[in-house]
Amino acid sequence: MSLTRVSTGIPTLDRITGGGLIPGKTYLVSGETGVGKTILSLHFLMEGLRRGEKVSYVSLDERINGVLDGAMTLGWDFWTPYKEGRFFPFEIRIYSEDLGRYRKDSRAYIDTIIKMTRGGEVSRIVLDPISAMAFGAADEYAVREYIREIIVYLEEKIGATTILTCDIPSGSTQLSRFGYEEYLSSGVIVLGLVNLDGRLVRTLLVRKMRWSPADHSIYTFEIVRGRGIIIGPTLRALQQRLAGSGTASPTTPRAQGVQTGSPEGATRDSSPI
Ligand SMILES: Nc1ncnc2c1ncn2[C@@H]1O[C@H](COP(=O)(O)OP(=O)(O)O)[C@@H](O)[C@H]1O
Ligand SMILES: [Mg+2]
Repeated sequence: MSLTRVSTGIPTLDRITGGGLIPGKTYLVSGETGVGKTILSLHFLMEGLRRGEKVSYVSLDERINGVLDGAMTLGWDFWTPYKEGRFFPFEIRIYSEDLGRYRKDSRAYIDTIIKMTRGGEVSRIVLDPISAMAFGAADEYAVREYIREIIVYLEEKIGATTILTCDIPSGSTQLSRFGYEEYLSSGVIVLGLVNLDGRLVRTLLVRKMRWSPADHSIYTFEIVRGRGIIIGPTLRALQQRLAGSGTASPTTPRAQGVQTGSPEGATRDSSPI
């Protein structure tokens, strides 16, 4: 197993994943809508661009222009690397009726990615969101085989470090939309929102990280213009701080996809990207 790790661009996330992501492996970022999955995955791509890598963003539900214009509101210019031929964004739609032919189609899908990424030169790929694949499909087995093939092909044929995002239903404690993407991935990061005394706080949990000494505490984070995802103290530390100042409610909020949290020292990302 390579000791070299791929930086996410988020210093605290690199630390709590045990040093960053393993090159060439696939990771899942899951959570309800609006929790920051697209922004975290764009942060990961922006870090690759900053390091002079070629990267690709595959949208499965939104128009690319909307995503890239949205990234501008965070101060991230993806248009320039796109024009320079270092960033390869594109859209793919997969419909449930295509799943009957999943074996043929998953290969066609990967072939499209290889073609669009100029024969696999890219080192980072984001598929956002994988849950949009075959939305509403009746045949769960076909969806499962389809996603499994896509992950195998991505790892074997392209070899880029990949983030798949996954929307999960509101109020659910599932880790993924179809219930098995987490087994196929080398790591799972769960984003959520908790109500802390009337204030919505963003949470991040490294739920699984293969071959890594990960920190499984629940962290809080903010989305900041020009800097992206900024991880703050753990949820526990934040609760204690608010309790100390007499403003926190005594009830423990339930973070999505989360059973327990251990108290950890508060840290904060500070390096701008
Ligand atoms: N420019 C911005 N500055 C601060 N927060 C932002 C900005 N743009 C979006 N957000 C926050 O990010 C959230 C959406 O994040 P996103 O990554 O699109 O979520 P997801 O992909 O999980 O649905 C919005 O609900 C908003 O709160
Ligand atoms: Mg999104």
